[in-house]
Amino acid sequence: VGQTMRGRVVFEDDGKTVQRVFLGGMADYLSTIRRSRRIILCGCGTSYHSAIAVRQLMEELTELPVTLELASDVLDRQCPFFRDDSIIFISQSGETADTLRAMEYAKSKGALCIGIVNVVGSAISRATDCGIHINAGAEIGVASTKAYTCQITAMVLLALALSEDSRSRAARRLDIMRGVALLPDYMRRALALDGQMLELARTLVNENSLLLFGRGYNYATALEGALKVKEVALLHSEGILAGEMKHGPLALVDETLPLVVVATRDSSYVKQKSVIEQLRARDARLILIVGEDDDSLDRFADKNMIIKVPEIVDCLQPLVNIIPLQLLSYHLTVLRGHNVDQPRNLAKSVTVE
Ligand code: UD1
Ligand code: M6R
Repeated sequence: VGQTMRGRVVFEDDGKTVQRVFLGGMADYLSTIRRSRRIILCGCGTSYHSAIAVRQLMEELTELPVTLELASDVLDRQCPFFRDDSIIFISQSGETADTLRAMEYAKSKGALCIGIVNVVGSAISRATDCGIHINAGAEIGVASTKAYTCQITAMVLLALALSEDSRSRAARRLDIMRGVALLPDYMRRALALDGQMLELARTLVNENSLLLFGRGYNYATALEGALKVKEVALLHSEGILAGEMKHGPLALVDETLPLVVVATRDSSYVKQKSVIEQLRARDARLILIVGEDDDSLDRFADKNMIIKVPEIVDCLQPLVNIIPLQLLSYHLTVLRGHNVDQPRNLAKSVTVE
């Protein structure tokens, strides 16, 4: 994440306050994007989850409608794309066939195509009109981890650059830029949860299923945590928008099924508290992700089931919250005797449709 920001986040003399964001590859395109009818975020798997994580902020800062598309679905549906659309294609490898084909389709419709790509010189990096290399370094393991956090970082920077001239957003931008400067340190602090995640993995190693509930900025955290658990630990796992709980998933809840609820303090906090109360009323086995100085949820779960993370500005919190879940899936995989780097049946880049 530090490397994603390097050369792009300009600090004041104190080295701590962010003065501005400069994205060399985007400078000539920002005004076109600001004038577009809408922004569409498109990718597959983890890259799609990073789109979900930044959607709300992108909408808030650009004041444009921001929609999401799974790349394979773009082709299946022959999505209506137009000349005044700005479409952001997110891909670690830059070679994913579905994303590349969706991008070629968007180009044929005349849309502005922007890449958020890790691999310099990859097909998507070359074929897009402009973009940001996330500079995460080579990602070897099949499970996308550092690419996820760096994709979100790059798109947060893009949202900040797009809203540079907005007076009404100035205070909010300042808050986020303060958070951006703190981010690497906060993520390092979240990595220190490794020991607790190993212990937690030991208690979950023989489970058949794990559900994760998130909402708002952390809906993506629930989806991505679940994808990691199923992909490498080969354990069935589902990420669920907590607002949907009453519309079906609640039927699964009993005293045996482990449930993770993300409840860090943002505008969804009160609602997440009520979800926790409802789950607890059904004797659910709760694992909670909460702010490190938040004691108000301690009574809902055993001490070792409460994961306390450092809290940062709301839109950056998913970058911190995903780390314990990545560590949990790592330990679950090792304990269950599977290969962390090369999960069964999967390839690092999916170059077939
Ligand atoms: C660039 C250099 C970086 C150098 C910096 C100095 C490259 C790859 N990067 O980084 O080594 O330190 O200038 O100012 O030479 N692009 C796409 N699609 C994508 C990703 C990027 O078209 O998916 C384009 C960009 O619009 C840009 C070029 O590729 O024209 C390089 O992008 P990026 O590496 O993000 O630019 P800088 O951060 O300016
Ligand atoms: O290289 P890409 O980001 O385009 O890959 C997209 C997905 O195939 C990828 O994120 C996949 O879901 C990962 N293996 C998840 O860890």
